[in-house]
Amino acid sequence: MLLSAGSIEQLPAIASEIISFAGNTRILLFYGDMGAGKTTLIKAMCEHLGVTDVVTSPTFSIVNEYAGAGQKIYHFDFYRLKNQAEALDLGYEEYFYSDAWCFIEWPEKIPDLLPENYVRVNIQVMPDGSRHITIDRN
Ligand SMILES: Nc1ncnc2c1ncn2[C@@H]1O[C@H](COP(=O)(O)OP(=O)(O)O)[C@@H](O)[C@H]1O
Ligand SMILES: [Mg+2]
Repeated sequence: MLLSAGSIEQLPAIASEIISFAGNTRILLFYGDMGAGKTTLIKAMCEHLGVTDVVTSPTFSIVNEYAGAGQKIYHFDFYRLKNQAEALDLGYEEYFYSDAWCFIEWPEKIPDLLPENYVRVNIQVMPDGSRHITIDRN
């Protein structure tokens, strides 16, 4: 499903749509090139869920935890992961198989560790700089 040729101003509405689309699925994978807008979209989604902390990419820790309104959110950035064993070491299962939201940048780094059910969010940068954001589920 194509959500929009998203500009920054449209992200709050897009975040809301993605959350509705996810339903009971709590694991969302964010695909898109470096600079496509994954972290920015996740920030909008966290705001939609009531997070008041500053949302930035967890560059040093791989995973950041935020408190939304009555729900926990884990934000992963696997870009710097060297291998899938590192995800095992950080205890990814504790996060993935909790009731918390998991927003995951660079899921390509953990192809064998993805759960059975997830929502895939893909961000594509158009030549004019706008974004096409598509969502589907596995
Ligand atoms: N929907 C959008 N439309 C236009 N610019 C955007 C959009 N989303 C993000 N950006 C801009 O793109 C840049 C990179 O975004 P970022 O979220 O850090 O990308 P990523 O996490 O995919 O590497 C930022 O400067 C941000 O302001
Ligand atoms: Mg990022």
